[in-house]
Amino acid sequence: MSGPGDWRDLFVATDERGLRTLSEAAAKAVDSLDHASSGPRSSDTPSQLRERVRALEVCPVEGVALDRVLDEFGRVLWAHAVRPSHVASVAHLHPPSVVPAVVTELAISASNQSMDSWDQSPAATEMELHLMDFLARRLGLAEVASGVMTSGGTASNVLGLTLSRSWAAAKLGVDVLKAGLPPEARRWRLVTSDQAHFSVQRAAAQLGLGRDAVVNVATDRTGAMDVDALDATLSQLDEAGLVPIAISATAGTTDLGAIDPLAQIAERARRRGAWFHVDAAVAGAFVMSEALRPRLAGIEAADSVTIDFHKLWWQPFNASALVVRDVERFDLLRVRSDYLDRGDELDGMVNLVGRSLDTSRRFDAAKVVAALRTIGTSTFAEMIESLVELTVYAARRIEASEVLALVAPVSAVSVVFDAPGHDADELRRVQQGLLARGEMILGRTVIKGRAALKFTFMNPLATRADVDELIAVVTRGFVPG
Ligand SMILES: Cc1ncc(COP(=O)(O)O)c(C=O)c1O
Repeated sequence: MSGPGDWRDLFVATDERGLRTLSEAAAKAVDSLDHASSGPRSSDTPSQLRERVRALEVCPVEGVALDRVLDEFGRVLWAHAVRPSHVASVAHLHPPSVVPAVVTELAISASNQSMDSWDQSPAATEMELHLMDFLARRLGLAEVASGVMTSGGTASNVLGLTLSRSWAAAKLGVDVLKAGLPPEARRWRLVTSDQAHFSVQRAAAQLGLGRDAVVNVATDRTGAMDVDALDATLSQLDEAGLVPIAISATAGTTDLGAIDPLAQIAERARRRGAWFHVDAAVAGAFVMSEALRPRLAGIEAADSVTIDFHKLWWQPFNASALVVRDVERFDLLRVRSDYLDRGDELDGMVNLVGRSLDTSRRFDAAKVVAALRTIGTSTFAEMIESLVELTVYAARRIEASEVLALVAPVSAVSVVFDAPGHDADELRRVQQGLLARGEMILGRTVIKGRAALKFTFMNPLATRADVDELIAVVTRGFVPG
């Protein structure tokens, strides 16, 4: 598209001319990704980036040609983006994305289905339901299980724990959506481990229970919930007259990748009548591998499960899901509306707004299915297994190091380590130096009060030689020369 031209040409059209316009523009957008930096990011400072970004007027009086805008974005944004596909991009659960999903993003946006109601997304609604069924079966849940796509693991956890709160109220005969929290809610507690993601606290805060309602159970040296500590916590709650309405287990903690003993926790939750939520944002993809699936034993007993496709399923953001044991449980959060979720649709027309905290919503399920159909189960399993093996390799190399030391055994795709004799300030100096120079995006965290560095392996293309190089670079940060 040259110049703003006729504004009528700005809209996506599916006739021959419209599709040609879209595909030419798409090709230019792809060209604009031709990165200048060879590392995981450029070494530009925040002020250099700010200056360059601010030089682009957001909405000039006269529009600028799309070719030029795409070119500017290439130079100003994409050349200075973090490259999650770079082997030295190892700080976060930030995946490289796969081509089938990325190109499907274009079709998702161009077709612009809205997942709130069937009349805005007929085939798309069926596809999201199909994906949720697939996921539910993989998790080992029964036929009545289903789910909904969300914007991320945080949103999925908040949704799951919202359901747990409504469930607890419903058992008292209270419709919490209408009447608000009953007086008994003062005694409600959400039980999780001390390594759980902060979104559990966020959920407690948003649900009106308050962050103080989150009870953190101690973990073992791997970072997994200690079942004896859980039993002791539950007994203490009993003695204090407090009610654990939900136990939220983690399958793959953010830093250590630890998987809580799901089967044992499920059994405690069932005995108490507590909702059993599993945050499988990190290790949920293990359901795709025969070798790794046993590590999730017990997940099939969950009332709700968080799956983050934009982590170890290599999806571009956003792509997450909450799967619920019985689809009817979603009724616990349903707020009907005369224009959207009327409840009198023709047979089989599902309005997914009834399951979601969002209203308008993207058709993210399409890119997930495009990727899974292209990759296939056996290759997917190989990819995820190779990352777990690479992580074990990295841990062994760190164990053998004279400068670095493991902080905890590895469980999934992250390795947490420090450098004995070097304090938290020195760890920060090394991590920030690598970031500022654009050499490595290295993780930095605190495990049980101990400052640490972290590699998170998300890229199945990374090799043992890459790991050796990463370790060598970090080591030189402490022992130059
Ligand atoms: C265990 C766990 N749960 C939930 C989340 C939140 O996921 P998101 O960033 O998709 O909201 C994370 C993020 O890293 C996580 O590690």
